[in-house]
Amino acid sequence: MQVGRLNHVGVAVPDIEAAKQTYADLYGATEATETRDFPHLGVRVAFVKLANSEIELLEPLGADSPVHKFLERNPKGGQHHLCFEVPDIIAARDDMRAKGATVLGTGDPYVGAHGVPVIFIHPKESCGLLIELMQEPAR
Ligand code: CO
Repeated sequence: MQVGRLNHVGVAVPDIEAAKQTYADLYGATEATETRDFPHLGVRVAFVKLANSEIELLEPLGADSPVHKFLERNPKGGQHHLCFEVPDIIAARDDMRAKGATVLGTGDPYVGAHGVPVIFIHPKESCGLLIELMQEPAR
């Protein structure tokens, strides 16, 4: 398995609207999606559009949020994950397991904020970075 395009960089932030403003003010990245709540995932999400990729802004929804602990360690926010596209999410999961990587959770792909199935690979086998693998969206 070879991963495809870098789809987005996930960035945890304490305040999504303030973060959108920062990307607009500092970097001229003024195009962003509406912020949407995903209560079942414990996050609010918005995407800042770039020429060749996107920044996924993640704000925790409540203390049970997977992003909550991250922000306790990084109160101003920080890089949370990278997301690569793969042509077949099930084949990618099986391949990652065969190579000894840890697939988080049950390993069953679930539909993330992009509306396509995703899985996450533990940072411990991945140079310290949480990696999201995403079923390649239709273009
Ligand atoms: Co993501």
